[in-house]
Amino acid sequence: MHMTALSNDDLEPLRDALILAGLPADDLNLPGRRFFSFRQQDSDVAFGGIEGTGSDRLLRSLVVVEGRRGQGTGALVLAALEAFAKNEGVEWVHLLTESATAFFAAHGYQVQERSLAPASICATVQFKRLCPASAAYLSKRLA
Ligand SMILES: CC(C)(COP(=O)(O)OP(=O)(O)OC[C@H]1O[C@@H](n2cnc3c(N)ncnc32)[C@H](O)[C@@H]1OP(=O)(O)O)[C@@H](O)C(=O)NCCC(=O)NCCS
Repeated sequence: MHMTALSNDDLEPLRDALILAGLPADDLNLPGRRFFSFRQQDSDVAFGGIEGTGSDRLLRSLVVVEGRRGQGTGALVLAALEAFAKNEGVEWVHLLTESATAFFAAHGYQVQERSLAPASICATVQFKRLCPASAAYLSKRLA
């Protein structure tokens, strides 16, 4: 699987995949976000992104295209995004999810009270506006 950084002009396939999966897609072009596509045999099989600066970052927009789920792709993409973050000096990865809590918990993320999130994470558009209060907040310290 090949990981490719997406420029702001390349975000349409990601936007389409997020909308199809019911994930927030309104803020993709705002600054401070880095998105990637994961391609296999010349087709996009997954997308994901990292948002923010400093040692706490938001992992977001992780989506495996329908028809490709349940085959380990999500796990590979998550590991690749974590490796990217670690390489950038990130210590803690944070995320919100409405439907994939068990997936992330199986990869070392712990459900936390939202009030425990660092200020930089609370200030993200996802926390403030895009994700409903029902979304679970999870975090993981990168090894
Ligand atoms: C969550 C998601 C990225 C997982 O990708 P995937 O390629 O199916 O995951 P994998 O094949 O690596 O892992 C599958 C495992 O995760 C579990 N799993 C997958 N999606 C899950 C979900 N939504 N909730 C709970 N468990 C889930 C499967 O049961 C399976 O468990 P097993 O290994 O014990 O059988 C994918 O289902 C997806 O794109 N969902 C829609 C978008 C989304 O909810 N993204 C997360 C919010 S950022």
